[in-house]
Amino acid sequence: MSLALVVILVAFQTGASGSPSVTMMPEIHLGSNPSSGVPDTAGEAHFFEESPALEKEEPEELVMATGELNPNYYPAQRAAKVVQHYLNTRYGSPCRLFGLHRVHSANAQDVDNSSRNYQLEVEAQEIISNTTGNCSAGVLFDRSGERRSAQVQASCEELLKVDALPQEEAFYQQCKTNGSVSAENLPDSHGRIDPGMTPLWHLATVASSFIMLNESTEDTLYNMAQVANITQLPSENDQLKFDSHVLLHDMVSQEILHWKLLFTWSPAEGVKVLQMEQLPYHNHQPPQSAN
Ligand SMILES: *[C@@H]1O[C@H](CO)[C@@H](O)[C@H](O)[C@H]1NC(C)=O
Ligand SMILES: *[C@@H]1O[C@H](CO)[C@@H](O)[C@H](O)[C@H]1NC(C)=O
Ligand SMILES: *[C@@H]1O[C@H](CO)[C@@H](O)[C@H](O)[C@H]1NC(C)=O
Ligand SMILES: *[C@@H]1O[C@H](CO)[C@@H](O)[C@H](O)[C@H]1NC(C)=O
Ligand SMILES: *[C@@H]1O[C@H](CO)[C@@H](O)[C@H](O)[C@H]1NC(C)=O
Ligand SMILES: *[C@@H]1O[C@H](CO)[C@@H](O)[C@H](O)[C@H]1NC(C)=O
Repeated sequence: MSLALVVILVAFQTGASGSPSVTMMPEIHLGSNPSSGVPDTAGEAHFFEESPALEKEEPEELVMATGELNPNYYPAQRAAKVVQHYLNTRYGSPCRLFGLHRVHSANAQDVDNSSRNYQLEVEAQEIISNTTGNCSAGVLFDRSGERRSAQVQASCEELLKVDALPQEEAFYQQCKTNGSVSAENLPDSHGRIDPGMTPLWHLATVASSFIMLNESTEDTLYNMAQVANITQLPSENDQLKFDSHVLLHDMVSQEILHWKLLFTWSPAEGVKVLQMEQLPYHNHQPPQSAN
């Protein structure tokens, strides 16, 4: 059974029981709105964006579509997902996390013979403040076979007005004072994240966006699946330093990829990745049990 299915089952269960310990799922209206045709990406459950409502690709779309694209189909969604990861790498923090709310329009054009340019109008979301805003974005995928990362530009003025600095400062001081914050299994096998640990989940998700941005191609759609663990390390300066093991889900290949990440964060400098390394695990099985 795929991770996506397991997570969906968990969502149904927690939604039905209304358990007060569930901090992840309240805004997911999966059961009540299965036919909207767009991924329901509202809410904190970032790993949950793999809504079954995402329309399946038509076989002929395996040949990359050019021109105006259906915004609900994979080619547009995959390019838009890269914009989400880009926003996280540029503006994300433990208190500011971006998701994809909706793709309004998408257009793809070949550039020379070596790359493809997607022009997108997307409605992105700052998940913690539940603010949405429109972004105009361009994503250039390299097709020369040299594995160059996609180049992204995006302007999303409204969305970036969200000010999380006071919360960032508070969390920063908390980590600085503690010196050894750590967590594992975010979310746990029931899809839960302890409210005190959500900033660490957000932080690891932002750091993982650096990997997902770097690794994304026209044929991938990466989501954060789980933080296996995250550990604060001693640091020599004002940057907090973290070591983390994360699980990423490529929705296209249905693979769960394991990565090790070493990164720093401070409110002033943002998240900086020092080292990223893919680990030789290959799961097609869920990392968490549904029982
Ligand atoms: C693109 O490829 C076609 C056919 O392979 C070739 O005729 C054309 O000159 C190429 N264009 C550029 C800009 O490389
Ligand atoms: C987020 O905002 C939308 C639209 O303003 C609203 O419908 C939804 O209930 C909000 N969700 C939360 C968790 O506040
Ligand atoms: C984004 O643009 C769409 C269509 O242009 C519009 O319907 C929507 O209200 C806009 N959203 C925001 C948050 O401004
Ligand atoms: C990003 O990916 C490219 C290959 O696509 C790799 O050469 C590069 O080292 C990666 N960047 C980082 C920071 O790992
Ligand atoms: C530091 O944070 C961890 C949770 O990450 C907690 O278990 C531990 O008690 C904290 N230590 C101090 C000294 O506050
Ligand atoms: C983090 O999780 C991975 C995968 O479960 C495990 O191999 C590794 O030992 C863990 N590291 C720490 C520091 O707990």
